[in-house]
Amino acid sequence: MNICVVGLQWGDEGKGKVVDILAENSDIVVRYGGGSNAGHTVVIGDERFALHLLPSGAVRGGVTCIIANAVVVDPAVLIGEIDGLAERGFALSGRLLISENAHVVLDYHKREDQLREESLGKEKLGTTVRGIGPCYADKVGRSYAVRMSDFRNLTELNKKLRTILAYKNKLFAALYGAEPLSVDAVMENCKQYAARLVPFVTDTTEWLHAAIAEGKSVLFEGAQGSLLDLDHGTFPYVTSSNSSSLGVPSGCGVPARMIDKYVGVAKVYTTRVGAGPFPTEQDNEIGQYIRDKGHEYGTTTGRPRRCGWFDAVVASYSVKIGSIDSLALLHLDTLGGLKELSLCSAYEIDGQRKTFFPANIDRLAKAKPIYERMPGWDEDISQATAFDELPANAQAYVRRIEAIIGKPVEMIGVGPKRTQTIIRS
Ligand code: GDP
Ligand code: IMO
Ligand code: MG
Repeated sequence: MNICVVGLQWGDEGKGKVVDILAENSDIVVRYGGGSNAGHTVVIGDERFALHLLPSGAVRGGVTCIIANAVVVDPAVLIGEIDGLAERGFALSGRLLISENAHVVLDYHKREDQLREESLGKEKLGTTVRGIGPCYADKVGRSYAVRMSDFRNLTELNKKLRTILAYKNKLFAALYGAEPLSVDAVMENCKQYAARLVPFVTDTTEWLHAAIAEGKSVLFEGAQGSLLDLDHGTFPYVTSSNSSSLGVPSGCGVPARMIDKYVGVAKVYTTRVGAGPFPTEQDNEIGQYIRDKGHEYGTTTGRPRRCGWFDAVVASYSVKIGSIDSLALLHLDTLGGLKELSLCSAYEIDGQRKTFFPANIDRLAKAKPIYERMPGWDEDISQATAFDELPANAQAYVRRIEAIIGKPVEMIGVGPKRTQTIIRS
């Protein structure tokens, strides 16, 4: 069985945890998009792993990890991750493959991301400053792009970098008055990256098709969330890739029809980092309660996450565009202790009730959430192992989300650990 796991909100839904659980029965885990802007957490016992570029299958020995074509690879981050995991008993040698066609994030991309964000001041997007947008822009622009396969020929790469940096340095100086970056320094880093990473570089599309033909099971791990999708999210407050499940075919060359199941991951409330619209945001003591209790601080940047009520209009939209079959709802424990919960089941826009999410932010700006109120619970549910062990109000809350979205909830998170998960199917 081939399964895609994708976030239904604005990222950080708990994809890492869900992928880790499903990876127990998978041969291969594939990252199909995004870059080190992602931060996926897996908690095994008392050990916490934060993965940025490696698929979350990395912490399951024996699982093959693939970084596919549409991922933008920051080699320094990736090497750090490979080494860090090896020290903790999860060696990647022999079970990591990186697409030769994946684009590479280099120092000048991160510099460009930072300079642009700084120059925008209050208008900034609030990116992770990991060079994601500039790298994808170079990919689309083609003339100044570097791919993993370029690490195989350092003489040619050196020539390419001279052309690229001549252009970038002029641009940075003219637009931002910035100091030039040294080609030799970038090239020196690239030599180290090449020595470490070329052994993993291959045609991952051919490899994946052969593995699927042999009957191997593949997990496709989404990064970011469906609402951060470049074409279907809240543009321009999105990332620069197709982070919904629509990105799988273009991201790794495996057609959608080869995927048997799509699992949508959502928190039982909503969070967002960075700028952009968020209709159910609670910039008040409720948001602070959720942030404190759920430890809602970015895995990649440490920024406090904006918190608000569950938005079923958002989740239903992601379910529709993402062909979602079932839901994994996380952080049910975090809502414990609140007297009353609100759940947004529709928007009012220009006096009309709307249940289809308007991704265009000018229309979204007019949306007023319509809330249903539900009673909360006080019990500690972090040790619950079955649905019927949950307090009646918690069960009712999950059932209501299930009814509005119209898809079965198959997994429920009651704590960060691998074991703190109720499996319902
Ligand atoms: P991802 O980017 O979608 O993989 O999510 P992140 O790892 O960035 O953020 C999810 C956070 O919630 C991590 O700190 C997880 O350890 C934590 N987490 C996941 N599931 C649960 C849950 O059910 N309850 C609680 N309290 N924490 C959870
Ligand atoms: P995971 O995979 C949450 C957000 C940034 C910013 C916007 C653009 O852990 O769910 P970028 O650096 O991509 O150009 O930033 O997207 N963002 C994320 N938010 N989780 C993520 O990944 C994110 N990746 C990017 O905060 O608002
Ligand atoms: Mg995250």
